Amino acid sequence: MIASSTGAPGAQPRAVAAGVLDAVFLRGRSLRVELARRLPTLDDPRDRALVETLCFAVLRQPARYEAALAQWMAKPPGRRDGELKMLLFVGFAQLDPLGLPAHAAVASTVEAARVLGRRHQAGLVNALLRRAQREGLPTLPPDTDWPDWLRERIRGDWPALAGSIFAESIAPAPLWLRVNRQQGSREAYRERLAAAGISALPDPTLADALRVEGTLAVTALPGFTAGAVSVQDASAQAVADALAPPAGGRVLDACAAPGGKTAHLLERDPSLRMTALDVDPKRLEAVEGTLKRLQLRGDIRLMAVDAASAKDDWWSGQPFDAVLLDAPCSATGIVRRQPDVRLHRRESDITALVKLQARLLDVLWQKLAPGGVLLYATCSILKAENAAQVEAFLARTPDARVDPLAERFGHASGPGRQRLPGEGGGDGFFYARLLKAA
Ligand SMILES: C[S@@+](CC[C@H](N)C(=O)[O-])C[C@H]1O[C@@H](n2cnc3c(N)ncnc32)[C@H](O)[C@@H]1O
Repeated sequence: MIASSTGAPGAQPRAVAAGVLDAVFLRGRSLRVELARRLPTLDDPRDRALVETLCFAVLRQPARYEAALAQWMAKPPGRRDGELKMLLFVGFAQLDPLGLPAHAAVASTVEAARVLGRRHQAGLVNALLRRAQREGLPTLPPDTDWPDWLRERIRGDWPALAGSIFAESIAPAPLWLRVNRQQGSREAYRERLAAAGISALPDPTLADALRVEGTLAVTALPGFTAGAVSVQDASAQAVADALAPPAGGRVLDACAAPGGKTAHLLERDPSLRMTALDVDPKRLEAVEGTLKRLQLRGDIRLMAVDAASAKDDWWSGQPFDAVLLDAPCSATGIVRRQPDVRLHRRESDITALVKLQARLLDVLWQKLAPGGVLLYATCSILKAENAAQVEAFLARTPDARVDPLAERFGHASGPGRQRLPGEGGGDGFFYARLLKAA
């Protein structure tokens, strides 16, 4: 509970970060949802950026801070003091890994205890942060914060690469931009960025991608509101290349929200006849907003539909030339962007997701024209959702065959290709391109 907004500069965002983390850690809330709910309470964009930075820094390696409290307190804060515990984590993260100036970081965090109505605990916060400053925080191996079952699955799936997966998953991700080619070239946009003092590098394999180091509010991007550019990870941008629908073709994007890939496909070819579905009507609204901002109009139909259902009264019966199945998945490839995945994911989720993905594949295959292409993609790194999923589909689908993807799409993994987190600067992603017999 935020009691007051007065006090040392920077106390307010630290208090908000503690509140967000309390909801994520102790009440099982999603980081994305909590940030969307609470950031608008802060007027200054720098404060909002600080809250995000603090939350991400804590969520990347919270076990280090747990270990510090266990070492330094006879009785570490329990559930009732969740907000205090999170404020201490926020304080620790400012010292390590963020390396913010210690004096200001400690003073603002102590003041944040008062903002949270915890004046009586301000002395304790001060003492523990001073101790962290003096003694340093414990370091732990990068795989510490994964639940045991998931750590073991990743080790089993990627025995030689698991170490790098764990290390990359706690590293901050670069900012990837996708330039809207309907509004100008990538080079022209790069010059606009340079004029605004932002340096960006074009990616050699992704035609629309620019890479920016560090964080930046989207509002700082020139022309963002008018649709000149979007934020989208490199591996997600590769999906448009992997699907490569025929010019002007009928395309079905079956799991479309919030619309990043629908929009990219339309930026590349506005003559596509696009049907975009999502089971979640609220999320589908985001697709509409995205297309509007990017000024993408044309033959586009958006529908709130369960694409896995046998009931398909949304469909005219005319088959699609290309289907994108960007499937709901464990999100284990994007932990660096959604670090709370490790807190919330349960082993039983994987079983349910594998079932849903299989049903989506079977139902959507029926909507594909003979000679058409279906791209199966996930942001998972688990073989059960990826290579094994597509192998099982091929075994039960006689008119499906694999169209092998080029090496730039990642490690060969069964019938598809897998990018692991951090490779090429992108997220973990799986792609399999499937052709239907003509
Ligand atoms: C990985 S996200 C898609 C991201 C999106 N393609 C993009 O690039 O912005 C998966 C989406 O699948 C949707 N979804 C889950 N089950 C579905 C179903 N049975 N039918 C349609 N959409 C579904 C979720 O609501 C979610 O928006």
